[in-house]
Amino acid sequence: MPVSSPVHVASRVHRFTYAIRNIVAEARKVEATGRSVQYLNIGDPIPFGFSTPPALVEAVARAERDGYNGYVPSPGITEAREAVAADWSRQGFPADVDRVLITAGTSEGIELALTALVDPGDAVLVPLPTYPLYTAVLAKIGAEASYYRKDPSNGWQPDLDHIASLITPRTRALVVIDPNNPTGAVYPDATRRALIDLAERHGLVLLADEVYGDLAYDGPVKPMGSLSPDASIISFSSLSKAYLAPGWRCGWMVVGRSSRLDDLLAAIKKLADGRLCANGPSQYAIGPALLGDRAHQESFRAALRTRAELTVSALNAIPGMTCVSPAGAFYAMPQVALGPGATDERYILEMLRATGVLCVYGSGFGMPASDGFFRVVFLASPADLTTIYASIDTFTRSFLRA
Ligand SMILES: Cc1ncc(COP(=O)(O)O)c(C=O)c1O
Repeated sequence: MPVSSPVHVASRVHRFTYAIRNIVAEARKVEATGRSVQYLNIGDPIPFGFSTPPALVEAVARAERDGYNGYVPSPGITEAREAVAADWSRQGFPADVDRVLITAGTSEGIELALTALVDPGDAVLVPLPTYPLYTAVLAKIGAEASYYRKDPSNGWQPDLDHIASLITPRTRALVVIDPNNPTGAVYPDATRRALIDLAERHGLVLLADEVYGDLAYDGPVKPMGSLSPDASIISFSSLSKAYLAPGWRCGWMVVGRSSRLDDLLAAIKKLADGRLCANGPSQYAIGPALLGDRAHQESFRAALRTRAELTVSALNAIPGMTCVSPAGAFYAMPQVALGPGATDERYILEMLRATGVLCVYGSGFGMPASDGFFRVVFLASPADLTTIYASIDTFTRSFLRA
């Protein structure tokens, strides 16, 4: 008689949550009732009409046509690594080609680095609210996320005293996301320096998530490592956001020149060998992207600024709602003054069912559920956003009255 009970699922999966995608199951149920859904949950510019620069598409297509379809070296093809090293060095974070790895998106780089760095029971300082991949990977490893506060009344800037108070002998790294998802904040140089100093004083590795570095509305932000090239910093970025190619899963990490990072770099390379290589053909676009024409970024930044301004003024006009102005990327994190007992998840799910608009509740980014935060992805056209915010307005008024 064959066994019929469900196959055991590893316990680590129960600790792993990823609200940005998990919530889509709810949206599908709403669609099954015949109502269309506006997906403001994932930061992907492509479904909203933004397109990958044709020169990059051609570079990948050419590589495929020319037969570059085999495995590539596990740290990446030389020309892509050279382009990253040249671009990061140009921006003031001197990078040796040998310390650059091409990864399947920023995501794989983050996972490789955390896996090489953190033991079960160790802790990593993670911003609150956070991009949830960090906590998901730490849960998988069996390590702990120590959440440090960012302050919405201070433009979502990190609270340095709070970070310092969380550091223990088990703390291994400080994650800094700048420009930030989910808040849209961009940190001034003085804050970035203070974060680096704090990490250095405590011997922590600073994991700098710089995937939105080119998307600050006032112009590109340099890698944090440019402020302190000898600090123990690893920088992560990709073609996903600023080069409009998230589906290519093409990113990189730059390991700073500090010799303190040498063993960690060797460990990351060892782990990277195990997955053979990152996606091959898309690596051929890295050179043209980083060393070629970036005109598309200027119009993208302008489009984002327009949408950010529209978002902030529409949401702040809703009674009971406040929204801090983003300075980069395509996210805002408004707060709604929920009544006693209400949760952000209930607010968002009821909004989905009432309006067909899908946002992600703040507790999916680690915030307390009763605080009423949620994240909006504002990549839709200004006309669509205006309609969407009008329906959020109507819904929120009735939700808060109920
Ligand atoms: C802060 C942050 N880091 C990393 C990622 C993952 O990006 P990638 O597509 O490069 O893996 C995202 C994607 O939304 C992000 O917002």
